[in-house]
Amino acid sequence: MSKQQNTLMGWIDDRLPVTQTYEKHMSKYYAPKNFNFWYFFGVISMLMLVNQILTGVWLTMNFTPSAEAAFASVEYIMRDVEWGWLIRYMHSTGATFFFVAVYLHMMRALLYGSYQKPRELIWIFGMLIYLLLMAEAFMGYVLPWGQMSYWGAQVIISLFGAIPVIGEDLTTWIRGDFLISGATLNRFFALHVIALPLVIVALVVLHLLALHEVGSNNPDGVDIKKHLDENGKPLDGVPFHPYYTVHDMVGIVVFLMVFCSVMFFFPEGNGFMLEYPNFEPANGLKTPEHIAPVWYFGAFYTILRAVPDKLLGVIAMGAAIAILFVLPWLDKSPVRSWRYKGMFSKILLPTFAIVFLILTWLGTQPASGHFLGLFSNGTVAVWATIFYFAFFLTMPIWTRIEKTKPVPERVTGGH
Ligand code: HEM
Repeated sequence: MSKQQNTLMGWIDDRLPVTQTYEKHMSKYYAPKNFNFWYFFGVISMLMLVNQILTGVWLTMNFTPSAEAAFASVEYIMRDVEWGWLIRYMHSTGATFFFVAVYLHMMRALLYGSYQKPRELIWIFGMLIYLLLMAEAFMGYVLPWGQMSYWGAQVIISLFGAIPVIGEDLTTWIRGDFLISGATLNRFFALHVIALPLVIVALVVLHLLALHEVGSNNPDGVDIKKHLDENGKPLDGVPFHPYYTVHDMVGIVVFLMVFCSVMFFFPEGNGFMLEYPNFEPANGLKTPEHIAPVWYFGAFYTILRAVPDKLLGVIAMGAAIAILFVLPWLDKSPVRSWRYKGMFSKILLPTFAIVFLILTWLGTQPASGHFLGLFSNGTVAVWATIFYFAFFLTMPIWTRIEKTKPVPERVTGGH
């Protein structure tokens, strides 16, 4: 550590390891030099988290969390508060782009086996973040108190009612009332603006500490710590700062260009990001014709609907998320990156990504009955759900039996 004595920084460093921490995590953190497109999305997820927190704080200044005033306060933000429309659109479009970034970030982990030993904890922290992010987005969606806020909450909270014995009491406990009311809105507000963001930020810190403990994986899935130079620095690594700080800026600028284009010209996303029934105030006596979740919940909602029994549907939906937690122990492949995995991985991984997109799409569409036709939504939903589970449950078999390719000693590319 380079300590500057007799300087202000030296004085601080003697009392708080600022320089040491900066060096450990930035200027002397060696990251593999072959990062590609997929490696932009961690930092972009972080950017979106900051965006959500900052715009959220400003929205809170003019939002009223009561059943009587919430809807009107959002209209007030949109029409009368200076730049209020921009802050709100940054937050609502931000939610979508946050999920886009997180899904691509997770896909990268699948492609390059980033969850494999010794990075299991990074993955587990990631999954906890994902779970809380879904809860956070769901509660945020309830706050504007539009028709979809109300009825979406009705559908999701009633799922807990499927749990035998305690179900009914549990839903009352969650709502804080015998029906969804101002009490529900109030508690969701408290959880959305402070409790969940606090835990999510703490988990992101743990996620990164766990990452920096073992070091980043890379598109080849090889360990850069195996080949060190005379100073003990990885030959295939570059200091995170300045190399990746500058590199990441490029990704951030391109991402922000897409983000701003959508936010300024397409903020409703054709009803996928801000659903049209939500432009009507909540009305407990009038059910919208078609209740659909926002796109990022679509896949799990389809799995819920694919199972005809309510309790079994809830179990399937829970299992679909739970199974992701144990992914590090399902993949038995001796290699990390799909570049060197065998034929099964080459076929099944892209198929899984396509099936997940199909599940997502179906979740936003009106339900049809099961097996009403070969390509009816219901039929496709059932097959896609079966594939989703089969992919994970059979993974220990095909990752073990497939013939892998030899993994290079050193990283390829990035020179
Ligand atoms: C708020 C959400 C999240 C933030 C801010 C975040 C941030 C980051 C950052 C900055 C990195 C290092 C840079 C990179 O590899 O792209 C990283 C790595 C990683 N993240 Fe996340 N992450 C989030 C959510 C998730 C989720 C949901 C998962 C999976 C369930 C996940 C799994 C991983 C893994 C496995 C790595 C190591 C990747 C490697 O070294 O190849 N993260 N994360």
